[in-house]
Amino acid sequence: HLEARVADLLGRMTLPEKVGQMMQFDAREELEGIVLDHHAGSILHTSPEKVVRAAELTAQTRLRIPLLVADDCIHGHSFWEGATIFPTQLGMAASWDTDLVERVGRATAAEVAATGIHWTFSPVLCIARDLRWGRVNETFGEDPFLIGELASAMVRGYQGGGLDDPDAILATAKHFAGYSETQGGRDASEADMSRRKLRSWFLPPFERVAREGCRTFMLGYQSTDGVPITVNDWLLSDVLRGEWGYAGTLITDWDNVGRMVWEQHVQPDYAHAAAAAVKAGNDMIMSTPGFFEGALEAVASGLLSEADIDQAVARVLSLKFRFGLFENPRLPDTARIAEVIASRAHTELNLEAARRSLVLLRNDGALPLAPATQRIAVVGPLADDAQTQLGDWAGSSGQIDWMPDGHPREQITTVLDGLRALFPGTVTYDRGAEILDLTDDPAGTFPDGQPRPPIVVPREPDAAQIAAAVASAEQADVVVAVVGDRIELVGEGRSTATLELVGGQRALLEALAATGKPLVVVLLASKPLVLPSTVRDASLVWVGNPGMEGGRAIAELLLGQIEPTGRLPISFARHAGQQPTYYNQIRGQHGDRYADLTQEPAFAFGDGLSYSTVEYTDATILTPAVGVGDTVRARVTLRNTGDRPAHEIVQVYVRDRVTSVSWADKELKAYRHVELAPGESTTVEVAVDAADCTIVDAAGNRIVEPGAFELLIGPSSRDAALLPVGFEIR
Ligand code: IFM
Repeated sequence: HLEARVADLLGRMTLPEKVGQMMQFDAREELEGIVLDHHAGSILHTSPEKVVRAAELTAQTRLRIPLLVADDCIHGHSFWEGATIFPTQLGMAASWDTDLVERVGRATAAEVAATGIHWTFSPVLCIARDLRWGRVNETFGEDPFLIGELASAMVRGYQGGGLDDPDAILATAKHFAGYSETQGGRDASEADMSRRKLRSWFLPPFERVAREGCRTFMLGYQSTDGVPITVNDWLLSDVLRGEWGYAGTLITDWDNVGRMVWEQHVQPDYAHAAAAAVKAGNDMIMSTPGFFEGALEAVASGLLSEADIDQAVARVLSLKFRFGLFENPRLPDTARIAEVIASRAHTELNLEAARRSLVLLRNDGALPLAPATQRIAVVGPLADDAQTQLGDWAGSSGQIDWMPDGHPREQITTVLDGLRALFPGTVTYDRGAEILDLTDDPAGTFPDGQPRPPIVVPREPDAAQIAAAVASAEQADVVVAVVGDRIELVGEGRSTATLELVGGQRALLEALAATGKPLVVVLLASKPLVLPSTVRDASLVWVGNPGMEGGRAIAELLLGQIEPTGRLPISFARHAGQQPTYYNQIRGQHGDRYADLTQEPAFAFGDGLSYSTVEYTDATILTPAVGVGDTVRARVTLRNTGDRPAHEIVQVYVRDRVTSVSWADKELKAYRHVELAPGESTTVEVAVDAADCTIVDAAGNRIVEPGAFELLIGPSSRDAALLPVGFEIR
């Protein structure tokens, strides 16, 4: 039935109408031209008024093919003032909780769908290995297995029970594949990757969500073996559509097709670029107006056949039919908006997500704050910075000019708000430092005329500001310093050369440490940063941009009203130059560390403390020898030796003792959440399929090599924290 509808419609379309269906236009352009002249298939970066207007214009077209409306609603509905903004993906990843992430996806989908948007460009499945990269916050961290689990959950949340579900939206797995492996962390710089490296780490999360039924995939800006992903036949046709049998829709990233002409100079003109992109299997071309004439010319000159275009258009049309857009264009729904946007249920879920995103990294005994505490000195430029707390893709970040102006201030609880609301004693506040100024756009524009983000200028420490903060600290029982990175240092095109605290923050922390007062550092940072050595002993909580409820969650944690449960989804380097510090590195030879620095990260993947202490003992293998089709099982005993409840994430890594090619020393293969009351002991069984104990051989095949293995069980990826048990795969 579906195929017949697609064939019928396709048979009635002219070539320009077909080419238009392959195009996604920036809705900031004139809508008449987009819809009436170009027969657009989709628009992005829009507003409800524009969605309604575009639908009116579509009704005037010959075939009245509805538009797909898309946007980057990646941790909540970024394009709606007052919608729920959840923690960023990196923050949510600290929960290691698929159920939570699925519920957040579900809530986001309901808010987004109500406003007439059908398609979100989320989740991000990039692997964050270079912490200088500006988009680390958009990822689920550094581990392919954890990324695959959490991204699949998010896809289930967005897409709901099926596309006829009125609250469902289309998910996008992006950026396929390897975009994050930039040079020096500079966003969208060349990230040329070998096929084996892709197969080893970067493809598995995408394969996982393809099998989960993710409806669309977005390509990155990079190349593989010198071939831009946009025209990479091997990756798109052989792997994605061939090996994985992916039948969904492929969209390029922003002007990928044009960039091949004017930026990368790998195609002589738009006709060649369009022909190559269509032949490689792209269905929707994002924001390349020149694709229209280019594709028409390519067909006229024989570079491209109309049959190639038909294939892509058929996929676009079948997505629209499946989504029921012809029967119901899913326009903004005022009643539904009132019901779901920032509903009480979503706000509660947001608080839960914020609590679960917090990671306690060090505790010198200051936390939770002692009951006798009477006076807290809150210090730092981020303690009351509502916008930075939300993170990027959250409106009014100053970096995205088409986003709504912002969210009502009263909807956002900053750390200062949270402590003032929950702490019965005195709370003082001093900013203590400024972070940066923006220059007057010294960088000009990109070659396509888009403005480059301005270069930031760090602010010098201000002696008077620091003195005021120190004076407050001296009067207080404890100092809570909230420092980190500001929104201008985060996002697409906003990588950072260093990982240091910017502006007057270092000097402020040093002055606070020198007071000798108990110091709690809340590192409110989009990504792992490096702390000055003077405060390396202070109690430390890391929180990625935690969303609207973040400040309340942090206050609850500091005051001991909740337990710390988060574990790092990414390692923290001691120095920008120590990178990469991800845990699953290839076993190297003797050159694998610097002369002036240990290679131990400051904090490793999986690290995170409770207010209690938990002992792991008696790890025992239950299946000492298995076949490839069997499950490896082991047991371990956990005992809560403290006097507070603990939420453990029991992590299970696999070590393949001898491999035919160089390979990671260990890889996460499973984890389990375990709750333990004070004094409680429990024995937990963990399981890994032997078929998952794979490597990628020299020819690029993923295989199990029979032989000796270990399961490593414990609370972190650090060897010292893990209990090894051996097994054999026959
Ligand atoms: O979805 C994004 C992508 O992640 C980066 N380039 C722009 C796209 C649309 O906003």
